[in-house]
Amino acid sequence: MLQVTDIDLSYGASRCLRGVSLSVGPGQVAAVLGRNGVGKSSLLRSIIGLEKIQGGSILWEGNEMRGLGPAERARAGIGYVPQGREIFPFLTVQENLETALAAAPRGSAVPDEVFDLFPILRQFLRRRGGDLSGGQQQQLAIGRALTARPRLLILDEPTEGIQPNVIKDIAKVIHHLAHDRNFAIVLVEQYFEFARDLADTITVMVRGEVALSGRTSELDEAEVRKLLTV
Ligand SMILES: Nc1ncnc2c1ncn2[C@@H]1O[C@H](COP(=O)(O)OP(=O)(O)OP(=O)(O)O)[C@@H](O)[C@H]1O
Ligand SMILES: [Mg+2]
Repeated sequence: MLQVTDIDLSYGASRCLRGVSLSVGPGQVAAVLGRNGVGKSSLLRSIIGLEKIQGGSILWEGNEMRGLGPAERARAGIGYVPQGREIFPFLTVQENLETALAAAPRGSAVPDEVFDLFPILRQFLRRRGGDLSGGQQQQLAIGRALTARPRLLILDEPTEGIQPNVIKDIAKVIHHLAHDRNFAIVLVEQYFEFARDLADTITVMVRGEVALSGRTSELDEAEVRKLLTV
């Protein structure tokens, strides 16, 4: 279980996150929604150790992550799919996937599961990352995160700039990972419908703070939409 409690983050003098809390257990999807610039990516980057928080705690499977670097958190089972995908354009699909093995035991390979979920990656193994479409790159970014065999998967706007048919595939994969494979999933989204259809809980952020949070089935949709538009 991931338990983020009351975290604070500042960039220099400007406060970015104030007392943000979020939790998600195995088999669950927690969606984080909010307008541009409210701190969604900063929250995710704090969880994976790319930002150093000034207050609060990040418990994962009962262990405090605050103070650990990104590589240690990756080894603890936290996987990350960054906003904008961050594929290495001049590396092949195979090489992009293998970058996730850097921290793995020697002799580790890309799990078959990655190719079962995204058959296109097997087909394009020798193609350069930069030559893939946006949707294929997103699948590669998710495949790369899964290559490190995480138990918690954190995705930052996986549907951004992607065609509807690929969005559907990605939704199926997220659903499968949570419900058939018991992953804990944190999903940052701009699109309310995508989040609502997948998420067990929804947290809405406004200017670095949690404005609203609860079980998807119990949230007032109109209220959520209002926070996403004002
Ligand atoms: N490295 C940084 N240094 C200084 N300010 C930053 C840095 N990264 C983000 N910020 C600022 O922190 C705030 C939150 O940014 P963040 O990227 O977390 O928002 P977001 O909700 O992910 O936005 P988007 O929907 O556009 O992805 C913004 O005002 C942004 O300009
Ligand atoms: Mg962002």
